[in-house]
Amino acid sequence: MKRSILITGGAGFIGSHVVRLFVTKYPDYQIVNLDALTYAGNLENLLDVKDLPNYIFEKGDITDEAFIDQLFGKYQFDGVIHLAAESHVDRSIMDPLAFIKTNVLGTAVLLNIARKYWKDNMENKLFYHVSTDEVYGSLGEEGLFHETTAYDPRSPYSASKASSDHFVMAYYHTYHLPAIISNCSNNYGSHHFPEKLIPLAIHNIKNNKPVPVYGKGENVRDWLYVNDHARAIDTIFHKGRIGETYNIGGFNEWKNIDLIQLLCRIMDKKLGRPEGTSAQLITYVKDRAGHDLRYAIDATKLNKELGWEPSLQFEEGLEKTVDWYLANEEWLQHVTSGNYQKYYQEQY
Ligand code: NAD
Ligand code: DAU
Repeated sequence: MKRSILITGGAGFIGSHVVRLFVTKYPDYQIVNLDALTYAGNLENLLDVKDLPNYIFEKGDITDEAFIDQLFGKYQFDGVIHLAAESHVDRSIMDPLAFIKTNVLGTAVLLNIARKYWKDNMENKLFYHVSTDEVYGSLGEEGLFHETTAYDPRSPYSASKASSDHFVMAYYHTYHLPAIISNCSNNYGSHHFPEKLIPLAIHNIKNNKPVPVYGKGENVRDWLYVNDHARAIDTIFHKGRIGETYNIGGFNEWKNIDLIQLLCRIMDKKLGRPEGTSAQLITYVKDRAGHDLRYAIDATKLNKELGWEPSLQFEEGLEKTVDWYLANEEWLQHVTSGNYQKYYQEQY
């Protein structure tokens, strides 16, 4: 079947994996990657697929209504996979308004234009919104986030994502816009911007710099290999039920400090350093404001209903990730020069 699909934020970490999967797996689909190329967007993430005949890149901002309108007119999309966002919690603490603008207003603009173009024929249309488990707030020692868990966002980032989720559902209920949301746990893998814990730690260990661990390192995250998230998005986009939410996660909880210790052991092995060398770089620093204690996803619905499951064990995925960063020194150098240095100094 021929389709015309808009993927927003396709030059970012997860978006680039989704674009790669769709353009290679579905040669009949026209895939338009719309990205503003903020500090987090990088066309180097897509060098291997940029010349494929079914791939088109459009530079633009999702908050620019006239531009989005023109884009829908030009490509007559029947599907949207919306990933574009400001995505880093620490930056949202520094500058909340940027998050409200892109994540809330940007999502509303996309919904509004999709509705304008689809309102006379909603058949075979889909607005797929990619969201986060952080909308559910913070867990104690026990329990999991389910699709029915009440929203309780606590950072400006998660509040903006929660708001965007609500707008998606409002457009579904009010205007019958065909929509699906997925809420995923922490991703890791190649092309991850080194402001986030895992790539930041790999970069710093490689350069013998301190590895900052917030607070006591006891916060827990549930890690999923980014390619498995992209596979889940593919599954939900094609088989998910309209109006539903699907939680995506790897049943893979780690305390930050245990994860960093494991990463240090892998880095020692890969760099040929005596065991224990990298761990000496671990440095406890001031905690994140409002730091959520624990996230853990129950992905049973996605597994039972649509048959998706993660493909990789964590250690294997982490080794692959480290291998990618060690083999892609030039990519790391490009993204850590310039503004990154300024951000790093302000943050740490
Ligand atoms: P990212 O920061 O790596 O990429 C975001 C992309 O969006 C970048 O390419 C950036 O240029 C683009 N962008 C930002 N503002 C834009 C705008 N106004 N107009 C157009 N493009 C813009 O983020 P990511 O980690 O790949 O996350 C992608 C999506 O997945 C986000 O919606 C995020 O909330 C969600 N998510 C992320 C994770 C995770 O662990 N990283 C987990 C669950 C959900
Ligand atoms: O849960 C999904 C979310 O995961 C996504 O929605 C976000 O876009 C994504 O950034 C991620 O958010 P986190 O805040 O959990 O990820 P981050 O990599 O920033 O931090 C992971 C944990 O590590 C968190 O408990 C904070 C801690 N941390 C982070 C950094 C950057 C440190 O201890 N030191 C650090 O330097």
